Amino acid sequence: MGTIYAIANQKGGVGKTTTAVNLAACIADAAYETLLVDLDPQCNATTALDRPKDTEPNVYDCLAGDLTLDEAAQPTGIERLSLVASTPDLAGANVELPRLPGSERRLSEALGSVRDRYVFTLLDCPPSLGPITVNALVAAERVIVPVQTEYFALEGLAGLLDTLSLIQRELNPRLTVAGMLLTMHDGRTRLAQDVEREVRAHFPELVFETVIPRNVRIGEAPSFGLPVTRHDPRCSGSVAYVNLAKEVAARG
Ligand SMILES: Nc1ncnc2c1ncn2[C@@H]1O[C@H](COP(=O)(O)OP(=O)(O)OP(=O)(O)O)[C@@H](O)[C@H]1O
Ligand SMILES: [Mg+2]
Repeated sequence: MGTIYAIANQKGGVGKTTTAVNLAACIADAAYETLLVDLDPQCNATTALDRPKDTEPNVYDCLAGDLTLDEAAQPTGIERLSLVASTPDLAGANVELPRLPGSERRLSEALGSVRDRYVFTLLDCPPSLGPITVNALVAAERVIVPVQTEYFALEGLAGLLDTLSLIQRELNPRLTVAGMLLTMHDGRTRLAQDVEREVRAHFPELVFETVIPRNVRIGEAPSFGLPVTRHDPRCSGSVAYVNLAKEVAARG
C-alpha cells in the first residue's frame, strides 16, 4: 500500500513546489512508482515538469468527482514519475468546494487505486489553509512542512500545527507530520544558522536532518522543465534532494 504525503505550508514561497517536484523525481529515480499531484491553481509543479497549464484531464476533474487521481495521471519525462496536472480554473474550487456536501473529502474520495499503483504520492498544496489544502490533509497520511530559513520562519508554524491537530481530531486521525524541512538555507549567513538552531530547538524530533541549501541550479531548473537532478545532477541542491528522498523513505 502506497503512502500519501501533503507538502504544505500556508506561507507563500517557502519551497513547497520545489520540494514536491524534486523529492518526487528523486523518489522515482530510487525505483519507486511515484505520483505528483499539483493542487495549486498557479500550476507551478505542472510547468516545472514541462506540462502546459491547460493540460486535460487535470486535478479539477478529480475534485469535481469525474475522474480518480490515477485516471487523471499522465506520464512525465522522468521514468516512474506520473503527474496529475493543475489548471488556473482550480482557483474557483475555493468558492465551489465549500458548497458541496462532504467538501473536505472530495480528494480523498478521488484516490481510486492510487495507493495500489504508486508507492509514493506527493500533493503540492497552495499557499493557504483553505479548502484545497484541507482536502489534501484529509487525503494524506503524512505532511512535509517546508520552512524557509529566514527571519520569520517560525511565524505561522504554530497556526499550521493547530490546523493539523484539528484535522487529525475531526477528519483524519491517521495524519502525522513526516517532518519539517529547512529550505533555501544560506550556510554563510549567521541568520540562517540562528534560524536553523531555533527551529530545531522548537521542534527537536520533527526537523529533517537534510537541509536544502539556497542554490541557483534549484531556482533555474523549472525554466528548463526539469527537476534539479536532471538539470545538474552534481550541484549541492541535487545532492540535498537525493538525501531528503533517502530520509523520507527511511522514516516510512
Ligand atoms: N533551495 C532553493 N534555492 C534557490 N531557489 C529556490 C530554492 N527553493 C526554492 N527556490 C525558488 O524560490 C521560489 C519559491 O519556491 P517554490 O515555488 O518552491 O515555493 P512555494 O512554497 O511552492 O511557493 P507558493 O507558496 O507560491 O506555492 C521559486 O522561484 C523557486 O525556484
Ligand atoms: Mg508552490
